Amino acid sequence: MMDDVLISLRKISKSYKSENGIVKVIDDITMDIKKEFLVILGPSGCGKSTLLRIIAGVESYSGGEIYYASGRVPKIGFVFQFPSLLPWMTVIDNVSLPLKNMGLGKDEAKETAKRYLSLVGLSGFEELYPYELSGGMRQRVNLARALAIQPEILLMDEPFSNLDPLTAESLRAEVLDIWLSGITPLKAIVMITHSVDEAIFLADRIVILTPRPSKIAKELKVNLPRPRNRRSPEFEQLEDLVYSYVS
Ligand SMILES: Nc1ncnc2c1ncn2[C@@H]1O[C@H](COP(=O)(O)OP(=O)(O)O)[C@@H](O)[C@H]1O
Ligand SMILES: [Mg+2]
Repeated sequence: MMDDVLISLRKISKSYKSENGIVKVIDDITMDIKKEFLVILGPSGCGKSTLLRIIAGVESYSGGEIYYASGRVPKIGFVFQFPSLLPWMTVIDNVSLPLKNMGLGKDEAKETAKRYLSLVGLSGFEELYPYELSGGMRQRVNLARALAIQPEILLMDEPFSNLDPLTAESLRAEVLDIWLSGITPLKAIVMITHSVDEAIFLADRIVILTPRPSKIAKELKVNLPRPRNRRSPEFEQLEDLVYSYVS
């Protein structure tokens, strides 16, 4: 394994057994995850969520191997497509819960939770319940909860696809700020999307998947300076290029 590689997937395949037989979802994916903002782009139903769960070490696979640089699954923060907050717990208790599960004392857990809520712009909302929040705020709480455990790798499964466009855009900017600021111990972000625009706006590198069963259609580096201007000719050129690989 190369020095800068955190996770290496080798010939990963995955099939599900269904009533109508075996469904092949992932077909021979070989890729490395480095210290980078990696975006995996693919059409709906191609196996993106399955792949992300495999990377997280919480889903079995049918063939191939995964190597982790540290020799074991690193500490991973996971942001799901739909905010998965416990409705009977306040915002701060939701964010504190995984910290307590990690063995932090009650006060330290709250203190840490508060810090990460402030990082995502939710100071003052600690004592509210999830139903009192907008969709965007709930997704912020999800992000704070994922970051509060101080993961090495942040996995995000279409985190912005259920938000209105303006909210999604401000959350994108904030995730990017957090990533670029280096104030967290994050070494990599792996985000899944079906949006070409989002992939080019955020990624250091894009891995494009084919429709199911997903294979890698193309890997592309995005060397555009940040903040990226969607109206620049370079952005639009890259957009054309990416679309040419999206079937
Ligand atoms: N637990 C499961 N059992 C059977 N089939 C599944 C299961 N999870 C996902 N699938 C099937 O695998 C395919 C890919 O699913 P998924 O990884 O969620 O795709 P994506 O996230 O790209 O939309 C879908 O066709 C889905 O029906
Ligand atoms: Mg999915």
